[in-house]
Amino acid sequence: ILSALGTRSIVLVGMMGVGKSTIGRRMAARLKLPFVDADTEIEVAHAGMTIPEIFERHGEPYFRDGEARVIARLLDGEPIVLATGGGAFMREETRNRIAAKAVSIWLKADPDVIMRRVRRRADRPLLQTADPEGTVTRLLTEREPIYRHADLTIASRDVPHDKIVEECIETL
Ligand code: S3P
Repeated sequence: ILSALGTRSIVLVGMMGVGKSTIGRRMAARLKLPFVDADTEIEVAHAGMTIPEIFERHGEPYFRDGEARVIARLLDGEPIVLATGGGAFMREETRNRIAAKAVSIWLKADPDVIMRRVRRRADRPLLQTADPEGTVTRLLTEREPIYRHADLTIASRDVPHDKIVEECIETL
């Protein structure tokens, strides 16, 4: 697998709550590549401010610019497994960078699975609304046609994460 990948990184894209970070970390361990979470890198680049703090203090457009820069920088380095935030792939420039430097995998999940997973955590500023369910549905409608442009699509369903990791690696 590694030789087929050459010097390309693996980039996981898809909605919040589909398991990009967990699956990415395990994939990286299996492939003996470093794992990087783009959201964490953005927090580090902002002296440890959390994503909700960055949204609150600077607004979403500022966050998106930082996100695009962080991903571009990470993809210029050695091959890694990169978990991106759910909105990162919406930017054309970022999609082009990913296409040039990496193999992208869309982890696709149903709205009910996503809702169940994101409800456990209050760290998604986009879902701090009166109607998080409606927001997830709306974001999925907007984003799925774009996530579809990823090189590979893997269904992230209610099976152990390791099974999804296996499927990703087999499909590469
Ligand atoms: C976002 C997803 C989050 C984070 C930010 C915005 C989005 O990342 O980047 O809250 O637009 O879908 P996860 O997909 O890792 O939750």
